[in-house]
Amino acid sequence: MRHLIDPLDFSQEEITSLLDLADRIRSDPAAYQDVAAHKKLATLFYEPSTRTRLSFEAAMLNLGGHVLGFPSETVSSASKGESVADTIRVVSCYADIVAMRHPKEGAPFRASRYSRIPVINAGDGANQHPSQTMLDLYSIYKTQGTLRDLTITMVGDLKYGRTVHSLLMAMSYFNPTFNFVACNELQMPQEYKDFCNEHGIRYRETREFSPDVINESDIIYMTRVQRERFSDLEEYERVKNLYNLHNSMLDDSKPTVRILHPLPRVGEISQDVDDNPKAYYFQQAQNGLYARQAIIC
Ligand code: CP
Repeated sequence: MRHLIDPLDFSQEEITSLLDLADRIRSDPAAYQDVAAHKKLATLFYEPSTRTRLSFEAAMLNLGGHVLGFPSETVSSASKGESVADTIRVVSCYADIVAMRHPKEGAPFRASRYSRIPVINAGDGANQHPSQTMLDLYSIYKTQGTLRDLTITMVGDLKYGRTVHSLLMAMSYFNPTFNFVACNELQMPQEYKDFCNEHGIRYRETREFSPDVINESDIIYMTRVQRERFSDLEEYERVKNLYNLHNSMLDDSKPTVRILHPLPRVGEISQDVDDNPKAYYFQQAQNGLYARQAIIC
C-alpha cells in the first residue's frame, strides 16, 4: 500500500508516469470513467479548502467512484477530542482512500501509520502539499515542454508556503535554478536551503522582485501571504502587500514564461494580469482535476 505524504514518496519515474497518465485522462476522460467504480474517497479536511477538496471530489466522481466526508472539522468528532490515529482507524472501515488536510504538520503522516487505506496529504500546516505539486509539475510540463533545467522564481510567503516547499523538493529531480523572492520575515526556511545544497540545486535569495529576476524566469510562482499562519497580526499587516505582480512588469519577460499561483490569491497578482497569455493560474487549477484523478488511479 502506498501513501502520498511528501513529493519524494514518488520516484522521478513515477512522477513522469503520473503526469503522462494525467495527460491521457485529460484527452480521453471516458476511458477512465469506471476505474474507481464502487470505491469510496473520504475527504478529511480540518482546514478550509476550495480547490483541493472539490477537485479531489470531482476527480473521484469522474472515475466512477463515490465521496464521503464532513462539511467542516467542527462537525467531526475531532471537536470532541478524537485523535488522528483513532479517526483514521475508523475511516479505514468505511472508505478505500483518504485525502487529509490538517493544520498540524505531520498529521497525515501520523494517519498513514495507523491507516489500512492509502492516505494522501492534502496539505499539512506549513509543511507539504504534494498533490498540489503534481498539478504544478503537470502545469510546468504542459507550458514549458520539459521539467528540466528551468529557472523558477518563487515569490511571497516562502516560510509558511507548503506548496513551494513541496515543489522545491520535487523539482530536485529536474536540475532547476531557483530565485527565492521574500522579505526577511518570510524567507525560505533553512531546511529547504540545506536540501538545495545537498542536492546541488542553485538558488539565489533576494528581497527585490526586480526586472532581472522576472526576465530570466521560465516560471514565476506567486504565493499568498497567509494570514492564518501568523501569531502576530501586526507582522502580517506589515508584510502582506510587499509583493504585487502587475501586467506591465511582464513587458520584457520571456515569451514562454508562465505565471503560476496555487490560489487563492488576495492582492499579490493584479487582475490586469489575468488576460495576459502568460497567466496560467486558472488553467493550473483545472489541471488539478487531471493530476488528482491520476493520483487516485
Ligand atoms: N491550492 C489550494 O490548496 O487551494 P485550496 O486551499 O482552496 O484547496
